[in-house]
Amino acid sequence: MLDIAKIRADFPILHREIHGQPLVYLDNAATTQKPQCVIDALTHYYQDENANIHRGVHYLSMEATRLYEHAREKVKNFIHAASVEEIIFVRGTTEAINLVAQSFVRSQVTKGDEILITAMEHHANIVPWQFVCEQTGAVLKVLPIDQQGNLLVEQLAAYLTPRTKICAITHIANAIGTVNPIKAIIAECHAAGVPVLIDGAQAIAHTPVDVQALDCDFYAFSGHKLLGPTGIGVLYGKKALLAAMPPYQGGGDMIRTVSFEKTTFNVLPHKFEAGTPNIAGAIGLGVAIDYLQCIGLTAINAYEQQLLRYATASILEIPGVRLLGTAHEKASILAFVMQSAHPHDIGTILDQHGIAIRAGHHCAMPLMAFFNVPASARISVSFYNTFAEIDCAMEALSEVNKIFA
Ligand code: ALA
Repeated sequence: MLDIAKIRADFPILHREIHGQPLVYLDNAATTQKPQCVIDALTHYYQDENANIHRGVHYLSMEATRLYEHAREKVKNFIHAASVEEIIFVRGTTEAINLVAQSFVRSQVTKGDEILITAMEHHANIVPWQFVCEQTGAVLKVLPIDQQGNLLVEQLAAYLTPRTKICAITHIANAIGTVNPIKAIIAECHAAGVPVLIDGAQAIAHTPVDVQALDCDFYAFSGHKLLGPTGIGVLYGKKALLAAMPPYQGGGDMIRTVSFEKTTFNVLPHKFEAGTPNIAGAIGLGVAIDYLQCIGLTAINAYEQQLLRYATASILEIPGVRLLGTAHEKASILAFVMQSAHPHDIGTILDQHGIAIRAGHHCAMPLMAFFNVPASARISVSFYNTFAEIDCAMEALSEVNKIFA
């Protein structure tokens, strides 16, 4: 059992008012709020510890280096990677996927090779692959979904061909909440000799992730969806793959030696971290991970599932609501449209009640096209949300119906 009142006390923003009403923050799939300990870690770093890393012999530089590398160790333990060399700090999920697309895939695909994604991906797991296709003549293949938003996994075998160079798939779909059976998918891809990248942006804060048990080749996630700061994220990659990949960006820290004739590169993970990184962000992410682990992702997942069931049952009582995404396995994301109002109107009316939801295409325009809607409204809950907040959102949705009746 989670002590929600105690948890909420850790998040200062949850106590502010919006338009004279208590904030009801239900846009957690876009970004999560930050506990005081993460905010304090950022302030403390800049106040007392700020220096550049891996470059100084002075005390502060060595201290900042220690803190940054300690954060990497925390990430490694959090996702159960085999070594810290497999943890690359990046800006976020988007940069992680671009890194794999350009460094791992682009160098080995030729005209006619195939890159496999799914119909429920967000733009960050579509556009980087389109770039590679344009650069190389490779072909983007899309594994379809059914009307409920379940991936048609039984069709996977037909999509895996001798020319498939990578399968890039989301763990949890941001726009509809489908939880994909990634362990089985990874095994099937590997049996066909195809490496797999998992986009973990939505999963990482909602379910325990063990990259070794999954046996994924790459796993990408962002810190800000995990109670951490923006501008920091992680690419996990199997060491043998990362070691064989060329650097993604050139600059300081990723080199061993530089002359005008030739440059040699640093060891993992530094080979992929060109320039001064987001040091405070990494440290803040480490503190966010500590905080989440104290509460426990298994307990978080169980509570969020209760909230999801409650919200799903409640919203279906509101006339004119159509849910988008009713997959067998779902995370705490409730996407919907209403007969009476456009999603942007829904979002605006809820905002007047202090309720934050997302309305729009959710960076997943092909998925909106699949459901034949221009946009949708999305409630996404986190473990600091309450049943009372769901009630509040439902009352406001009933009011949307009254206003547009
Ligand atoms: N990917 C983020 C979302 O789903 C921005 O809202």
